[in-house]
Amino acid sequence: MDYDAIVLGAGGAGLMAALTAGQAGARVLVLDHAEKAGKKILISGGGRCNFTNMGVEPGCYLSANPHFAKSALSRYTQWDFLDLVQRHGIAWHEKTLGQLFCDGSARQIVAMLLDECARGGVEIRLETPLGEIGHADGRFRVAGASAPRLVLATGGPSIPRMGASGIAYDIARRFGLNVVPPRPALVPFTLGEADADLKAISGVAFPAVASAGGVSFEEAALFTHRGLSGPAILQVSSYWSPGEPVRLRLLPDAAAKLREAKRRAPRAHLKAALAEHLPRRLADALAARLALPQELGNTPDAALDALGAELEAMEFRPTGTEGYAKAEVTAGGIDTDGLSSKTMEAKAVPGLYAIGEAVDVTGWLGGYNFQWAWASGVAAGRAV
Ligand code: FDA
Repeated sequence: MDYDAIVLGAGGAGLMAALTAGQAGARVLVLDHAEKAGKKILISGGGRCNFTNMGVEPGCYLSANPHFAKSALSRYTQWDFLDLVQRHGIAWHEKTLGQLFCDGSARQIVAMLLDECARGGVEIRLETPLGEIGHADGRFRVAGASAPRLVLATGGPSIPRMGASGIAYDIARRFGLNVVPPRPALVPFTLGEADADLKAISGVAFPAVASAGGVSFEEAALFTHRGLSGPAILQVSSYWSPGEPVRLRLLPDAAAKLREAKRRAPRAHLKAALAEHLPRRLADALAARLALPQELGNTPDAALDALGAELEAMEFRPTGTEGYAKAEVTAGGIDTDGLSSKTMEAKAVPGLYAIGEAVDVTGWLGGYNFQWAWASGVAAGRAV
């Protein structure tokens, strides 16, 4: 069968590209090996899909070329996607930090995209292995179909048990495109034996400022049985390099707070002073870990200052991350140098496009990655 465009991958980016092209009159085929379209959308945001963020701007994305995402993000914004959501009558709310979620279910977002694809006459074939991809006489041939345009939208390898794969990189390399080495991002850290004591408080969330790789994020953090997690940790994981430390500010103005507690209640235990500001189990664990003296009144101010400094920047040395099995996204990917930022078309291979997570553009946690999927999908969909 002949089409105007074949889209590989029925995730957020692929469906968006397909519905945009289809509604502009193109005959579009979407191919996917999964049994359902939009599987990552369905599990996203705890089943409610954090579909965009009101604070989207290019600085919220990592890429070897930080300018690449600007064009697509400015031509299809968070307001455009929100408008689509509202036209479909999907109720939504802003949770925190500009993050927009469905009130009901992520299924509504997938239904919306499929409905828009149907309006554009898009054909979607699921459970279809891609097999060999042929390219001759200006046409791409995949799974018995052919088209002059091929859109790579098969995402990255994070969460392989959901059918995620690195096939986009293999196809890109086959066509001579470079791939920035992929790595797990938005991923929990693992800690070693030196931090084994903190397993006892796994699951206790606390507000923190996490810092690594020259950036800091203020959000919740928590210790797990394997290491460190929570939004602040996931955010800095995208910027972290193996061997680097991760610092946690557990208590702002810690020294001043401890000195004030000493003046107010000199007979109180240091642990109790910490528990005024931190979850009790965390305060207990820190007291044991730092071998804190018992009474505030017996603790010299200099010791309180030293403890304060420790609580302002507690250093951890992750042994690694939990890898693709737990990574919300993959950083790195198809090198943007080889792509047009306006159309997502490969500069050296006319008719070949790459969008979404497969490309070396990775957003922060909080709806930024879907906004990139929508925006890059629309950019390619308008061009094909
Ligand atoms: P995506 O991975 O969605 O789609 C790729 C498609 O290609 C899939 O349908 C897959 O089956 C198909 N495919 C892959 N390999 C194939 C092969 N070999 N042959 C055929 N088909 C193949 N982001 C956000 O902004 N807000 C959020 O709330 C969340 N929440 C979230 C939770 C969890 C648990 C995860 C893992 C991820 C998120 N994300 C997120 C990230 C977000 O899901 C992700 O960035 C986008 O889904 C990327 O969209 P793509 O369309 O590029 O790839």
